[in-house]
Amino acid sequence: MEVVILPGSRQIGALAADAIELLLQRKPNAVLGLATGTSPLTIYEELARRHEEHGVDFSEARGFVLDEYVGLEPGHPQSYREVIRREFTDRVNIKPENVHAPDGSAADIPAACQAYEEAISEAGGVDLQILGVGTDGHIGFNEPGSSLSSRTRIKTLIEQTRKDNARFFGSISEVPHHVLTQGLGTILEAKHVILVATGAQKAQTVRDFVEGPVAAICAASVLQMHPHTTILIDEAAASSLKLADYYRHAYDNKPQWQGL
Ligand code: F6R
Repeated sequence: MEVVILPGSRQIGALAADAIELLLQRKPNAVLGLATGTSPLTIYEELARRHEEHGVDFSEARGFVLDEYVGLEPGHPQSYREVIRREFTDRVNIKPENVHAPDGSAADIPAACQAYEEAISEAGGVDLQILGVGTDGHIGFNEPGSSLSSRTRIKTLIEQTRKDNARFFGSISEVPHHVLTQGLGTILEAKHVILVATGAQKAQTVRDFVEGPVAAICAASVLQMHPHTTILIDEAAASSLKLADYYRHAYDNKPQWQGL
């Protein structure tokens, strides 16, 4: 797990976009794992700008949305399929048919989850997974207590997560209780994971999952088991880390050939 501490979200967005741009140069049909929420927005913003101004090409790329609410009608503005379309995929030249999301309105939820896992496998797996982290340590919607080897499935949101996400809806009563999410086992199979966190409200969470024990109570801690995870955080989110100086030192002296 590599921890990179940057001045702010603009720099975080630029560094993550560098990694995605390099990946697309190496593999034009790369599979991107797409998280929603506020944290990845500067990445999508930067990628849209580079597409517009420098022609970064997504024409062969594929995307898999990380999670989805259950029970929102198709096309609901807060469904994650819609959010990703609005914030990212409509702003670059990725083909709409190459962007997939779990089907939160399926009549047969277990079958839809199984189909999603199969679609990811058939695409050859996720090359680069973008993640945020919830204040309770969730990644995707793997709330505390999630099996560390879980696959895509239905989960019940913790009330704090519904409160955190109420800002996107009119009121908390409109936030669904249930979601579909790639499992922790699914996420662990991505070849490279980039997790983004900013702000003092994430400082304790970052400390817990980066430097605490690997435990289901803090789902993001499972990333300690992943061979290639990059954590991009700002100074505020890094403020509780015990080894912050070491992470800075390691990044400042990193051999250039290693990349992200
Ligand atoms: C979003 C997702 C969530 C968010 C997390 C942090 O697809 O899976 O895990 O990444 O709730 O959200 P923000 O970035 O809004 O703080």
